[in-house]
Amino acid sequence: MKRIAVLTSGGDAPGMNAAVRAVVRKAIYHGLEVYGVYQGYSGLINGNIKKLDLGSVGDIIHRGGTILHSARCLEFKTEEGQLKGIEQLKKHGIEGLVVIGGDGSYQGAVKLTEKGFPCIGLPGTIDNDIPGTDYTIGFDTALNTVVRAIDQIRDTATSHDRTFIIEVMGRHAGDIALWAGVAGGAETVLIPEKTDSLEDVWNRLQNGVQRGKKHSIIVLAEGVGKADDLARDLKEKFGLETRVSVLGHIQRGGSPTGFDRVLASRFGAKAVELLLEGKGGRCVGIVNGELVDHDIIEILKEKSEPTMDLYTLSKQLSI
Ligand code: F6P
Repeated sequence: MKRIAVLTSGGDAPGMNAAVRAVVRKAIYHGLEVYGVYQGYSGLINGNIKKLDLGSVGDIIHRGGTILHSARCLEFKTEEGQLKGIEQLKKHGIEGLVVIGGDGSYQGAVKLTEKGFPCIGLPGTIDNDIPGTDYTIGFDTALNTVVRAIDQIRDTATSHDRTFIIEVMGRHAGDIALWAGVAGGAETVLIPEKTDSLEDVWNRLQNGVQRGKKHSIIVLAEGVGKADDLARDLKEKFGLETRVSVLGHIQRGGSPTGFDRVLASRFGAKAVELLLEGKGGRCVGIVNGELVDHDIIEILKEKSEPTMDLYTLSKQLSI
């Protein structure tokens, strides 16, 4: 293998730049040429591909977002789009591709793998919902962003004796809500993988009230529903007035934490090692502190599970 490429796809995640940097530097260290594909699979289809050198990835390890830009690309879900992408890679003499992204990005890498093009997937999403790894690039940074927000909201919740509902990202996954809920001492955490009724939420709040608590924090993953709807239901059914804070895309930005930078650097280097060993169709992860790689097609048949012991713990600690 002489020439490889790297792309970032789907929702950006802090640490993607550190991963791109690691791929580029590790590849050049081993004498490979590296190309960057801009705007994810959409840039791949359109041939938005440029050579990267050591300097192209200087001064980016601490930056959020992705210097390669990202996109969600519907055309790449079609066979025609996938073939166009492979044509572009071949036109540029590229023999292996590193894809950094979440579930949708992995699906694209699977399609390329099935068509015989060597691909390595690196888990990059704030959602922490990729099978085969305990942590995804960006999760730790997003978690810390949410925890800071909860701490700040708690100050005003305490001062005004109010209940706040904080809506966090996670369309299908509850890890951001769970981890941030535990770290921020939330009274209630609602995640898409578990169903809590309105009565459950109300009863928990009432337990707190009975022991003299005058403020509460509810952390709600967006996959459960909208915070405004929960606020309306609590008002209509129980007469409870709340305040709502939807954190939104602030969770996707910002300088990556040290943990995310190291994780991304290790993942990026591992991807290059796999390609050098002639192993395509793999994805990288960290399990129990060890770097691992899996067959990307097989791993996507599994489902990433949220950290359910934290769900139990959050209930036990917020009585
Ligand atoms: O997958 C990452 C994520 O941030 C989800 O948590 C969220 O639901 C989604 O992306 C938002 O996507 P977009 O930025 O395309 O609206």
